[in-house]
Amino acid sequence: MERLCAVHPNAVWHMRLSYILATNEGRFLIGHHKHASRYEAWLRHHQTTTPQMLTPVLLSLSTEPQTLSTVAKKYLVDMPVVLIVGATRGLGASLVKSYANQPTNQILATARASSPPKDADNIAYIPNIDISSPEASKTLLDYLNAHSIRHIDIVIVTAGYFATESLKEPSFEAQEKMYKTCVIGPTILVTALANHSPGLLNSSSKVILVSSESGSITLRHESEGGGNYGHHASKTALNMSVKLLSLDLKDRGVAVVAVHPGFMRTEMTKNVGFDKFWDDGGAVTPDVAAKSLAEWIGTFDISKTGQYWAPRGAADIGTAEPILGPKEKLPVPLQLPW
Ligand SMILES: NC(=O)c1ccc[n+]([C@@H]2O[C@H](COP(=O)([O-])OP(=O)(O)OC[C@H]3O[C@@H](n4cnc5c(N)ncnc54)[C@H](OP(=O)(O)O)[C@@H]3O)[C@@H](O)[C@H]2O)c1
Repeated sequence: MERLCAVHPNAVWHMRLSYILATNEGRFLIGHHKHASRYEAWLRHHQTTTPQMLTPVLLSLSTEPQTLSTVAKKYLVDMPVVLIVGATRGLGASLVKSYANQPTNQILATARASSPPKDADNIAYIPNIDISSPEASKTLLDYLNAHSIRHIDIVIVTAGYFATESLKEPSFEAQEKMYKTCVIGPTILVTALANHSPGLLNSSSKVILVSSESGSITLRHESEGGGNYGHHASKTALNMSVKLLSLDLKDRGVAVVAVHPGFMRTEMTKNVGFDKFWDDGGAVTPDVAAKSLAEWIGTFDISKTGQYWAPRGAADIGTAEPILGPKEKLPVPLQLPW
């Protein structure tokens, strides 16, 4: 199998015979198979952190001027860039793990903090991305420019915030924070990526905005009652943004979708006291939800742009039964009603 690999400069000398053989054949079977995933991870890491290191390494592997562009072309095709916004905890952290398992993926993971988790083989953290702030898009675009990232295959915005409210105790301040975090920030960020350059998001790009079944007006039911105005309504507004962005980006072939990732055992639900519903409500770990979501994203394309999906179906949607009918008759994945 033809593989694109790179090697650490220290390893070049030992591996030289392998390269020469590979280039003489006009192929790019470089280095030793055994270490392929390590070399690939190293290449990705250094392309994102210190792009200038890439050229000398590739040049040392290449004997013809043609070779470099062929390598670069293959490199771009074979190494999807996945941007995960809100990647430090919960679903976002699990998505990072899940996508990073595939060594050819290059993960850009955003953190709100200025000191994010340490980069790993194929994961680069981008600090200081507070999606509720108007600065988030600029900080992110500056990073992409500085690291010569010219195309993103998958964008997942999962950053979110949930504060409870009731008729007796609404909160202007909490609502403001939820709207900024869950709808204004994600919408502005996607527009910034779309406006950056025609190629950053194109017909091979998918944009997934993590919503919630709680944003569905159809699925609200008296069995659950009212309250939680800012949380639920900000997700409804996010759903509207998804629909509008999908219309704006359809001609470019960029697929945009809203998803309900499932009821999860995360800090978000624990902090609002929903951990008491975890067992009865069928809550899953964020790792389980991330796996289902990533698998579903693999099947998602422009034919479903502008829609609203629950990759894990209705099992954890408390109001599904009275509104949509017996859960066992509902398909998995399930397209949700707005
Ligand atoms: N949990 C559920 O049952 C459930 C159900 C339906 C939908 N969802 C949705 O799924 C998504 C993930 O939920 P989760 O349960 O994984 O949440 P979580 O455990 O609370 O994690 C939230 C993540 O978002 C980040 N974040 C919060 N505010 C941010 C901001 N202003 N800017 C940038 N990042 C920010 C957090 O970063 P820090 O570490 O910096 O705080 C953290 O990485 C959310 O959109 C949520 O609404 C969750």
